[in-house]
Amino acid sequence: GAPIDVDLAPIAEGQVIKVFWRSKPIFISHRTKKEIDDARSINWHNLIDPESDQARVKEGRDQWLVVIGICTHLGCIPLPHQGDYGGWFCPCHGSQYDTAGRVRRGPAPANLYLPPYEFLSETKIRIG
Ligand code: FES
Repeated sequence: GAPIDVDLAPIAEGQVIKVFWRSKPIFISHRTKKEIDDARSINWHNLIDPESDQARVKEGRDQWLVVIGICTHLGCIPLPHQGDYGGWFCPCHGSQYDTAGRVRRGPAPANLYLPPYEFLSETKIRIG
């Protein structure tokens, strides 16, 4: 699969869009300050799959979260902006993810995976 370029400019703050890369759904979330604060205000060491918010975004681009939209339990596509943690809710068996895409309630064993990507400019990323 070839890399894809995504223009971020049309994605409003608070909005999540879905694109496809290598037949996989990719969610791009333009996070609000509250969503970032929520992700950073917890003690991440105690999470099911311990990872800091900072480790899941690019430095200086805290508002952009890019995750592979496949539940790490059995592969359903979770729903954005649902569940108790404001991130994603998986309708198959109820896993919940936070605004950093980290699993907060199982059965999913791992955070939503991050695709390889880079910023080409302030408003453009290349996935792949
Ligand atoms: Fe998502 Fe089972 S596939 S909770």
